[in-house]
Amino acid sequence: MNLPTICVVDDHQDIRNALVEMLQLADYKTVAFASAKDALATLDKTWQGIIISDIRMPKMDGFELLAALQKLDLDLPVILITGHGDVQMALSAIRNGAYDFIEKPFRREHLLEVVKRGLDKRQLVLENRQLKNAIATQHKETIIGQSSIITALKEKITRLAKADVNTLICGETGTGKELAARRLHEQSDRNKGPFVAINCAALPESMMEVELFGHEAGAFTDAKKARIGKFEYAHQGTIFLDEVESIPLSLAVKILRVLQERQIERLGSNQSIDIDIRVIAATKSDLKQLSEDGVFREDLYYRLNVVELHLPPLRQRDQDITLLFRYFVDQASSRFNITAPNLSLYVIDTLMQHDWPGNVRELINVAERFVLTDTLIDQRKLANWQSDVRHSSLPSRLERYEKRLIEEALSQAQGSIKRTYEGLGIARKTLYDKLAKHGLDRHRFMDD
Ligand SMILES: Nc1ncnc2c1ncn2[C@@H]1O[C@H](COP(=O)(O)OP(=O)(O)OP(=O)(O)O)[C@@H](O)[C@H]1O
Ligand SMILES: [Mg+2]
Repeated sequence: MNLPTICVVDDHQDIRNALVEMLQLADYKTVAFASAKDALATLDKTWQGIIISDIRMPKMDGFELLAALQKLDLDLPVILITGHGDVQMALSAIRNGAYDFIEKPFRREHLLEVVKRGLDKRQLVLENRQLKNAIATQHKETIIGQSSIITALKEKITRLAKADVNTLICGETGTGKELAARRLHEQSDRNKGPFVAINCAALPESMMEVELFGHEAGAFTDAKKARIGKFEYAHQGTIFLDEVESIPLSLAVKILRVLQERQIERLGSNQSIDIDIRVIAATKSDLKQLSEDGVFREDLYYRLNVVELHLPPLRQRDQDITLLFRYFVDQASSRFNITAPNLSLYVIDTLMQHDWPGNVRELINVAERFVLTDTLIDQRKLANWQSDVRHSSLPSRLERYEKRLIEEALSQAQGSIKRTYEGLGIARKTLYDKLAKHGLDRHRFMDD
């Protein structure tokens, strides 16, 4: 349903028909309903058009319909039909949030003019929404960060994407392993093919095997129809084996065979199917250690780890903390349609003192909470945050804190030395000494 449609609601058949006829003569697409309830069953927030409804109807009247539609979507234009000269009714329609009103008997030019305005407005709203979504999804896939570690990582991803070799991504929880895997896929020549992710820890061993390899009809009792597995599904694309350390030893042998021979057999079949895939695996563990300990198959480890990508924890890239925080605060505030609270120095301070065991994922939660409640942490978590801080010594905390404050000041001053030392209330020479001590380069802060 791509053409804008006008939904007409009136319990009187003659009025309904008259309206529909007028609109159709003007080449509009229409649907008509005799009751508000029937109309509501069809309308939703993606409705590409407007609604014209009578006010006086049995059961659910026009005002009630208007209220229900506003719950669905505040930007859905609803035009209410009032009796001729019924000023009170017209006023109350507008006051209740109707887009406009038309009087019975209808004047054709007036009707068409109101309808056209309503449809134009609706189209604009939908276009804006689409644009916003497009921007949101586009950004979702970008790796944000300006620290040298992240810049180097992005370059490495671009290089590795073209290399088409199996890749192992390691990093703590929430550091962006899946994001990196997607970027590898998107920047590779396989990007027209599928990206198929499977979490190896999520399923028991037997189900995992079916997930990966698929089965023929009748392979086991419940297998009524044949089913394609993830390996096959990922043909000409990338398969992402998340939490790969959880692969049981027995299944590891079978996966190893796939990697070596680039062929699979569905369960219950002995026919080999050629597959062309790139395997990206991710782990939170030290897979090398696990394979040395015999917990993970060593030969599989070497197959997967042709190249390795290490994602650093957030606490090792201090500079990105405020950048990411700002980014996610902006995102959350546009998603929730709330103006973001100010990022005071106190807020930045608190963020910088934290150790971020949950890394970027934790930071996203904190940013959303900040937008919604103007607080950073809830009381239950406060103890953890404080204990983080207690773990390191005072001098090292002060060092780190100082570095972060200078970075923040540099960033606010866009790299200007004068504005930075003035802002911090220190002497020019002191600032230079501190930049050298912390290895900070003001040029990094000069863009945007
Ligand atoms: N550098 C970054 N820039 C923007 N978003 C990021 C960045 N790093 C991580 N994210 C976002 O943080 C969230 C967590 O990232 P992701 O799921 O990739 O982490 P993970 O390492 O796979 O975590 P886990 O080990 O818990 O599965 C995602 O929403 C991701 O988009
Ligand atoms: Mg993940």
